[in-house]
Amino acid sequence: MRKISIVGSLNIDFISNVFDFPKVGETIRAMDFHISPGGKGANQAVAAAKLGGHVEMIGKVGKDKYGDVLIESLAKVGVKTQNIKKEGDTGKTFINVNHKGDNTITYVPGANEEITKEDINASLPDLRESSYLLLQQEIQEEIVEDVIDLASGLNGCKVILNAAPARVINDKIIREVHTLIVNEVELEFLSKDYVSEEQGLVSKVNYLLNKGIKKVIITLGDKGAVFASSSEYKHIPALTVSATDTTGAGDTFIGAYAVAKSEGLNDIEAIEFAVKASAIAVTKHGAQPAIPTRKEFKAFFKEKEESSFNR
Ligand code: RIB
Repeated sequence: MRKISIVGSLNIDFISNVFDFPKVGETIRAMDFHISPGGKGANQAVAAAKLGGHVEMIGKVGKDKYGDVLIESLAKVGVKTQNIKKEGDTGKTFINVNHKGDNTITYVPGANEEITKEDINASLPDLRESSYLLLQQEIQEEIVEDVIDLASGLNGCKVILNAAPARVINDKIIREVHTLIVNEVELEFLSKDYVSEEQGLVSKVNYLLNKGIKKVIITLGDKGAVFASSSEYKHIPALTVSATDTTGAGDTFIGAYAVAKSEGLNDIEAIEFAVKASAIAVTKHGAQPAIPTRKEFKAFFKEKEESSFNR
């Protein structure tokens, strides 16, 4: 199994549990509050490592106490952290989670936007050994583009871009992406100028495939995920669980998918594994603390099998 590298964000998440999201002009009281390590890049790194991957994180945190907390959270699950540099203030997010487990997230990028080309070049020896490179969009656009360009020149390193949060991606870059992973909101954003809202998922996915991306995966929350390539289109259903907090569920999916691919599974098998891992993650609070280890993953499904057998 070769390495999975992640170039992306590390945030400290300030999470309030609320009954419903506040309306404009409304002040509401939170039912609970906690601070926990997050960031789409870091969450995906933690997911890949907890589920058995050989993982390297490249990114930037602040020279503050939260920076140390974030590095520690990665290191304790075995992620290599020597390419995480320190500068300025750590990225922060303010998250509301409602009674259905849905969330809204506001992020303050901080150090995530201080990643430079020099930082990336310093990590080149590690990128060369990677079979998968995961990127998200909470870091600067030009850095994402540089990394994708660089990876396209490396032998056997496939780029998985999680286009979250959504923003315009230039056509040259999109052609170099091997697998694009988006949720429905991001898919809508990327295709809105060319495919009408009513045209449905297939037209939107085809629009992206026609741009030259080899594989597109749409995460659909409690409806599972869709896989599409030029020769295949398949819906993979979700598992039925009771959601407590969906924060980081998409990141768990992506980390799990990368691990399964690095172990040689095909795309559909890898998505089935990812759907299961994210189903476990939504049953717990927070992003990184909710991600299952490989052992917890096995135990969860053994228990589920036994209880359905005994019924
Ligand atoms: O995807 C969930 C993550 O998005 C949170 O952990 C938060 O940090 C934001 O980056």
